[in-house]
Amino acid sequence: MRIALLGTGAVCHVLAPAFLDLGHDVVVGTRSPRATLDTNQAYARLAERHPALELRAFADAVPGADLVVNAIDGPSCVAALTPLAPALAGRVLMDVSSPLDWSDPDAVLDPVNTDSLGEQLQRALPAARVVKTFNTLVAQAMAAPAAIGDGDHTVFVSGDDAAAKAVVTGLLESLGWKDVLDLGGIRTARATEMMLRMWIDTWAALGTDMFGFKIVR
Ligand SMILES: NC(=O)c1ccc[n+]([C@@H]2O[C@H](COP(=O)([O-])OP(=O)(O)OC[C@H]3O[C@@H](n4cnc5c(N)ncnc54)[C@H](OP(=O)(O)O)[C@@H]3O)[C@@H](O)[C@H]2O)c1
Repeated sequence: MRIALLGTGAVCHVLAPAFLDLGHDVVVGTRSPRATLDTNQAYARLAERHPALELRAFADAVPGADLVVNAIDGPSCVAALTPLAPALAGRVLMDVSSPLDWSDPDAVLDPVNTDSLGEQLQRALPAARVVKTFNTLVAQAMAAPAAIGDGDHTVFVSGDDAAAKAVVTGLLESLGWKDVLDLGGIRTARATEMMLRMWIDTWAALGTDMFGFKIVR
């Protein structure tokens, strides 16, 4: 597949090499490729290690992509992606964003309870096929499920488009995920986004972010 990975942060650092290893073409999206290469040293090093990675402005990364990953800062992603609505029409948009406002010392969730970033994205991009996933995990765990409990833990998918969820589920399985739980429509992104409060407190209690949630049946 050709994957447009929008975002140059920790998620990109994990997923871009993992997707390349699986044989996918990866184009990374950023606000300004020139500024990113000049000022984001971590990204510049990643690009040096992986010359196959293309870097483009967000809008230029999307055309031609079979799957688009939203790995943009949570509070900024709806505004950043809304102008891309025509280009995203019909495309699978794998949304890994978290509604965490880290500027608050208690890392509050916004939106929460009656809405979610997944739903806001689906409303802003009505013709995109949004699938929420991966937001209950630290980036390093996304592409290395076996590093936690031999891979015996659960990753969730939420979305209104069954075929889009099948594409994302296939990608997750190719990364080694064995328990992909389909929670239902995009409305269920509220549930996994609200798990972030639990995620933060578990992180503090364990002293490590390399853990996963497991749904025991
Ligand atoms: N890090 C994790 O372990 C983790 C785990 C689960 C979920 N998530 C979620 O996944 C997403 C990506 O996380 P991350 O840690 O990889 O990166 P991040 O630091 O949350 O976001 C970095 C990306 O956001 C873009 N960005 C920042 N402010 C922006 C603005 N005002 N307008 C447009 N774009 C803006 C940056 O653009 P430039 O490239 O131009 O700088 C960069 O590409 C986030 O929503 C995060 O909550 C992260």
